[in-house]
Amino acid sequence: MCGIVGYVGPRPSQDILLAGLARLEYRGYDSAGVAVIDGDGTLGMRKKAGKLSMLRDSLAEAALPDGSTGIGHTRWATHGGPTDVNAHPHLADDDKLALIHNGIIENFAELRDELLASGVSFRSETDTEVAAALLGREYRENGGDLQLAFRGVVNRLEGAFTLLAMHQDHPGLVVGARRNSPLVIGLGEGENFLGSDVAAFVEHTRKALAIGQDQIVSITPEAVTVTDFAGTPVEAEPFDVSWDAAAAEKGGWSSFMAKEVAEQPEAVAKTILGRVHDGQVVIPELDGLDELFIGINRIIITACGTASYAALVGKYAIEQWARVAVDVELAHEFRYRDPVIGADTLVVSISQSGETMDTLMAVKYARERGARTLSICNTQGATIPRESDAVVYTHAGPEVAVASTKAFSAQITALLLLGLHMGRVRGTVADASVDVAELQALPEKIAKVLASEQEHVEQLAGWMADTRSVLFLGRHVGFPIALEGALKLKEISYIHAEGFAAGELKHGPIALIEPGQPVFVLLPSPRHSALIHSKVVSNIQEIRARGARVIVVAEEGDVAVLPFADEVIRIPLAGAMFEPLLSVVPLQIFAMALATAKGLDVDQPRNLAKSVTVE
Ligand code: F6R
Repeated sequence: MCGIVGYVGPRPSQDILLAGLARLEYRGYDSAGVAVIDGDGTLGMRKKAGKLSMLRDSLAEAALPDGSTGIGHTRWATHGGPTDVNAHPHLADDDKLALIHNGIIENFAELRDELLASGVSFRSETDTEVAAALLGREYRENGGDLQLAFRGVVNRLEGAFTLLAMHQDHPGLVVGARRNSPLVIGLGEGENFLGSDVAAFVEHTRKALAIGQDQIVSITPEAVTVTDFAGTPVEAEPFDVSWDAAAAEKGGWSSFMAKEVAEQPEAVAKTILGRVHDGQVVIPELDGLDELFIGINRIIITACGTASYAALVGKYAIEQWARVAVDVELAHEFRYRDPVIGADTLVVSISQSGETMDTLMAVKYARERGARTLSICNTQGATIPRESDAVVYTHAGPEVAVASTKAFSAQITALLLLGLHMGRVRGTVADASVDVAELQALPEKIAKVLASEQEHVEQLAGWMADTRSVLFLGRHVGFPIALEGALKLKEISYIHAEGFAAGELKHGPIALIEPGQPVFVLLPSPRHSALIHSKVVSNIQEIRARGARVIVVAEEGDVAVLPFADEVIRIPLAGAMFEPLLSVVPLQIFAMALATAKGLDVDQPRNLAKSVTVE
């Protein structure tokens, strides 16, 4: 969702802001804008609905006088449509002050009425302009002290927000604040940056500071100060960004998604790295935290979307290895009922971005109820790990395409590691050597699927470019992969797709089968369970008998299905818990190839944002 960048330093800020916004494009947005304070202390601003290129074109036509203090924003519309007027920055104090915002100000209507009554008029429909106007008023009432005025504003706002502001009477100063919405600081030499994530400034510096909840930051070229909302100084947590700017670039790939699908062997290998010792899984971040796993009688894994499907795979693995009951809850449902949780519950949250508002709120809710919390996250300095008792990072590297692929594989890998780590700590896994060997063999096997099936699956997708609906069936750990296959297809190719548990077929979904209906079936290996395998083969026969066009994902050498399948996609042999990491790959390729065949933008599908920072 909204992308935020701020800069103070010796260099002209406009290009730095535009480059930062370009790196934040992946978050999803529908308008963009920048404001700069020029050398003469005049604030200039330009904003445009549409893609960043619209803003660039407008600046190319009529440049803003450039200065070395600036803020930039990409907006994902919430209050008011994606128009030039509603785009950020919003101005106040006779257009001398500019403010940008991510999140939702819940009490904006009340504040707006208050400001209208005092004679303020508004140009846009946004909640953000209310914060800008409030800042203008506070600024005048506080004798032109921007920091004090800003503190007055954040203390009046309810909801979730990251705010950045600057005033032309204070060149060389940008103030920012955050509550339940991301903001990180980039530390340069004689220059400093702010960004909704490190991508905003990683090409300039890899030294960063994470800002906590309800904190305010002021940056000048030489200094960074962080306080709480009451003005008390606080220490911000330093961290080094573990990837460089090149990692977030497309390289020679046709899309970020294609690059990220291909990066899965590496994402899985890096997530395993350093976490296997003497044939055992030992996650160093969990050192000394055994009490998280002992004395619990229940685990709830909470997440949204793709991450929730990784969670479903994790449920099977953790129950098998750590022998503790696991429930998977969509984060946005979890806190709106009255779940039975307490000190004997471990709530595991999964989030690539670490900023998904629904998941963040679920973690906070779990903590308030006394549960232990652990997060699985791909983003350093993000909010969710900071709100959790422990964190296991996935090391997938930056994921830019909106549709998650390598982060999903890394999340499953982290859950497998967590299951084996917990099993060791709880004494329920005596010998992990076979599973550890399976884990370590995964990167090579994923690479093999990519090498051997890519062309075949792309060809299939080409034949099916006019298809209006695709179904996916799976059993056991294949069920979450069926759900993920359907989600990938929906989100990037806009084709109706649904995933079902194969056993559910006769309870309703089989009514959808008509001649020619494409159905992907994830056939588990007969080596894991001859029974489950035979049940799925029966399901295949049932849909085939009704005319379905059946595409089966099956392990090498499984011939049982040949008489009933229209197409067979092969994956290498793997243990039951490890198969999902192989079977998901052809489904990702299929979705990507079908969307490409339809001429769609696979990286930035319509209506979607990468990081969903509002509920
Ligand atoms: C789908 C997708 C989303 C995310 C979901 C959670 O491809 O990417 O469903 O998985 O929005 O996002 P994170 O993992 O950032 O919390």
